Amino acid sequence: MSTVNKAGLEDVVVSTSDICFIDGREGRLIYRGYDVDDLAVQSTFEEVVYLLWYGALPTKKEYDAFYKTLSATATRRLPPKLVALLRGLPKKTTPMEVLRTGVSALSAFDPDDPDNSREAEIRKAMRLTAQMPTLVAAWERIRRGKAPIAPNPKLNLAANFLYMMFGKKPTDLAAKTFDVALILHADHEFNASTFAARVTAATLSDMYSAVTSAIGALKGPLHGGANEQVMAMLEEVGKPERAAAFVEEAFQKKRRIMGFGHRVYQRGDPRARHLMRMSERLGQAAGAPEWYQISQKIHAEVQARKQLLPNVDFYSASVYHVLGIPRDLFTPIFAVSRVCGWTAHVLEQLANNRLIRPRAEYRGPAPRGYVPIDRR
Ligand code: COA
Repeated sequence: MSTVNKAGLEDVVVSTSDICFIDGREGRLIYRGYDVDDLAVQSTFEEVVYLLWYGALPTKKEYDAFYKTLSATATRRLPPKLVALLRGLPKKTTPMEVLRTGVSALSAFDPDDPDNSREAEIRKAMRLTAQMPTLVAAWERIRRGKAPIAPNPKLNLAANFLYMMFGKKPTDLAAKTFDVALILHADHEFNASTFAARVTAATLSDMYSAVTSAIGALKGPLHGGANEQVMAMLEEVGKPERAAAFVEEAFQKKRRIMGFGHRVYQRGDPRARHLMRMSERLGQAAGAPEWYQISQKIHAEVQARKQLLPNVDFYSASVYHVLGIPRDLFTPIFAVSRVCGWTAHVLEQLANNRLIRPRAEYRGPAPRGYVPIDRR
């Protein structure tokens, strides 16, 4: 038995996959052969979902049929009993806990649940992708004592989410910005939450259990939680003029600056470049340029001092904040996008399944005799 002597499985290749390639040296992210730089500029989130699940870009006819089902009210709507369940939760329940609980509960309402055929699994993936935004927006309203807003089938997933959150149609710029943010978060190879989803799927459990596992893994601050901490930092800094002193002090105290550095990308995270431009444009249009300006200053100071570059979480914080999204929804939003990647990986795992069951190198006590309790 060989031993992989790497804490956290760093750089260990555990399986092949056709879905996503991260070129850490060149700073490129590829979904099914397409560069995320091209997808961010030319594609839509719905098309990327199709690409991740089916492995190819859709024809116009395929896209229209797919889009229609994904955006139908019947696909997006939450069962009334699930909304009742949400209303019964304490108002202080965090949105990530609500998402984890709600997704787990949704399996009880899925008509395909006992069917494990690929067609049924795709229908479940479709419902999860369509319903998770409704769930996040519904909780945001319920916890503030407001009634949830029904989905609008005339709006794409990004615009509909903002509509269900705020009760009015977003501007074209806000909707487009959010759509691109969803594209940029859609998949990222074998990250912790995706791996958790695959481990669960590989036991031949079910799609809902796999996505619930993934949400649990994403919830941790070492994975999905960094964007919320970036926002806390921007609020703490407060003004661009304070950025230099803040960064200086953070380095002196050996404090990690959230939203910088990446295990895989050595020459910068390509997603951050798009989010940086979006943060600037959106901030200007919304009359709130200060969040981009503070971010820019911190970026320049950190890069000058330690050659560290921003990752996906850094500029997404100011983007979401200017869109009016509360800080504790930043990680649920990550899940709203990443669910298409998780489910693509579950489909891939099931297509060629083998139970994922590694071994541990035992370092505990040598075999010893049992001592009855009255003689210890
Ligand atoms: N702020 C300050 N210093 C940082 C840093 C950060 N965000 N990220 C890395 N470094 C420094 C480390 O202190 C270390 O410096 P040293 O060699 O002088 O000791 C060096 O860069 C390498 O760091 P290391 O922790 O070995 O890199 P890693 O590959 O294990 O870490 C992250 C990757 C993402 C965990 C790390 O960069 C980090 O904690 N970033 C902040 C959290 C974050 O944004 N997470 C979201 C990731 S998408």
